Amino acid sequence: MSHDVRLLPSGKTFTAQPRETLLEAGLRAGASLPYRCDNGSCGECRARIVSGQTREVRPHDYVVSEAERIRGVQLLCCVAPASDVEVEAREIGSVEEIPRQVIATKVSKLHLLDGEVMEVHLRTPRSQAMQFLPGQHALITLPGLLPRYRSLANCPCNGTHLLCYVRRAPGDAFSEYVFTTLARGDQVMVEGPEGRFTLDEVSTRPIIFFAYDVGFAPLKSLIEHTMALNELRIMWCYWMTLKPEDHFLDNLCRSWADALDEFHYVPLSSLRAGADGAPNWRELAAVERIVEDHPDLSGFDVYMTGPQGMVDFARRRFMAAGLPTERFFQEVLRTF
Ligand code: FES
Repeated sequence: MSHDVRLLPSGKTFTAQPRETLLEAGLRAGASLPYRCDNGSCGECRARIVSGQTREVRPHDYVVSEAERIRGVQLLCCVAPASDVEVEAREIGSVEEIPRQVIATKVSKLHLLDGEVMEVHLRTPRSQAMQFLPGQHALITLPGLLPRYRSLANCPCNGTHLLCYVRRAPGDAFSEYVFTTLARGDQVMVEGPEGRFTLDEVSTRPIIFFAYDVGFAPLKSLIEHTMALNELRIMWCYWMTLKPEDHFLDNLCRSWADALDEFHYVPLSSLRAGADGAPNWRELAAVERIVEDHPDLSGFDVYMTGPQGMVDFARRRFMAAGLPTERFFQEVLRTF
């Protein structure tokens, strides 16, 4: 049977399903619990059981000291609740608390999506899950090439399976390598995490997520994290791309919108052929569309990814519509 879990001192609560470890249940519920191996060997997930019963569901190599054991310290990745429990656990509250990690990953899958975007799946060694907060990015190094920043698009609850997106860009060495040379089983070095584009979990305000092109990647992680939290917030997701078919995770967004009353999805395309057939970018129109939909932004949080000029324009326009400066969270895309 399932049991209720309460984390202290945060007071965060969640339900653990039968046979789910406390770590699995907590991560699934969006708690930023520290962990590294998820198999009982590193000790990173040590926490104190304050009340309630647990049972060991996995053997572990890491030895909890006698003094800690007497205090009730256990490994959250190795125990499941046997009753409702209260757990005193450290939760990662800021990016500064996450150590920099360098991990040799292996390509586990390459999946070509609509819009000529490659979904790159990277597996870390089992004992070396990548710790990060939703919205952060990492340096990805491909053989013989300079490292590139890529947003980590997966939920941090599964730090052994990393996900990033690369758009086909002829002439760009990184992109060409991914599309022509990278293969399943290849080693890819991942270093990080970096970035402060993370969710303000204290806020309960409705959120506008505004992505440009592959800038949807960090928003995917943020949206999935927001959905995992107990209190579901109203979310609007505006995703602008060059062409309609460039919404490479369109089905995923539509499935979220179908499943949740709180989630609204607005795909936008920016290309309109001018009289001479040349592209006519309409980023500004996308910003105006958001202000048209929400003329008073004073009660919102906005999370936006895009090129510098577009982000700057949007920030000014949203402020003029009442958005408080500190409620605008931005990630400028350095490369696509
Ligand atoms: S012992 Fe490593 S995460 Fe639990």
